[in-house]
Amino acid sequence: MREMDRHFGGGRATLHLRVTPLTGMTSLESMESALKEMETSAKSQLDACKTPEALEAIRVDVLGRKGRLAQVSKSMGQLTHEQRGGMGKLLNQVKELLETAFDARHAAFTREAMAKRLAGEWVDLTLPAKGPLRGGLHPVTIIQSEIEDVFRSLGFTVLDGPEVETEYHNFDALNIPADHPARDMQDTFWMTGGNLLRTHTSPVQVRGMKKLGPPLRMIAPGRVFRNEEVDASHEHTFYQLEGMMIDRDVSVAHLIYFMKTLLSEVFRRDVTVRLRPGYFPFVEPGFELDIECLICGGKGCPVCKQSGWVELLPCGLVHPNVLRQGGIDPDEWNGFAFGLGLTRLAMMRYGIDDIRLLMSGDLRFLNQF
Ligand code: PHE
Repeated sequence: MREMDRHFGGGRATLHLRVTPLTGMTSLESMESALKEMETSAKSQLDACKTPEALEAIRVDVLGRKGRLAQVSKSMGQLTHEQRGGMGKLLNQVKELLETAFDARHAAFTREAMAKRLAGEWVDLTLPAKGPLRGGLHPVTIIQSEIEDVFRSLGFTVLDGPEVETEYHNFDALNIPADHPARDMQDTFWMTGGNLLRTHTSPVQVRGMKKLGPPLRMIAPGRVFRNEEVDASHEHTFYQLEGMMIDRDVSVAHLIYFMKTLLSEVFRRDVTVRLRPGYFPFVEPGFELDIECLICGGKGCPVCKQSGWVELLPCGLVHPNVLRQGGIDPDEWNGFAFGLGLTRLAMMRYGIDDIRLLMSGDLRFLNQF
């Protein structure tokens, strides 16, 4: 054992591949020199090794079951019984020593990889948080709730009505009998069985009069349907907001006052409007309130059909026949009604130049609101 210590510097092992005794050497000397050479060669391989994969290959080659160290220990058979005990201890020492060296190198690779990964995953914890992703309101919904607030503050009740309507509520009760040419003004989707998709929110006027009775202030926002060719300014489905006020001695002046209040609340700036006579069987007199097109500033564009004006607010004083259908005595009560184009209003307010975008479900469009 003392002799081995001399060779291996007090337990520092040296390894070698060749185990055949050199000429004139004892088996013990040859094994010792094989171990010494092996240590030197494994050490320099370890130092030169660049990747964990290469390290593993060297480890298998040196320490594996059929590796170089195993080869050396196989040749222990050539030793005497006494020599074998010392040599076995020495082999174990060398084995432990090399295992420690491999483990250290392996740990160094792991540390390097971790440091690299951490550098890539670096986050600035002082940055403000992103916050949760939230859905938004549709532009028509935004406008609708704003207008509901305005009218609620003026004492109006918000009513709802069915989208599938009876012919009676959509037409007859609104002074549009079956043979009336005004039926052609609104292209209708008919259901089998005689009902229809409401072409306007006006049927809620009739339901409102019957439900609430006079005096009455109501609005009814909702979805309406027309069997129309679709283009930049026409959709088969769009939104209106119906309004009705019934009291004693209601005049066109009241109507204009409420319409002006409505528009100034919605636009919060001066918009040019014009009032012209308009025909609707359920009002008399009837008006069309147009606003100057806010898309083109009145120059003419596809939205205003090149006219510079957009029909926004048809209105008028409620026809006596409609009051009668609602169970209200026209000799005692009168009122005004209007049918605001909510979809058009949203387009004007947000500068949307194609009505088809509103129902497209396109998130690039919807995310802007
Ligand atoms: N219902 C009418 C339409 O959709 C609009 C309107 C409502 C006109 C109320 C006058 C009064 O065309």
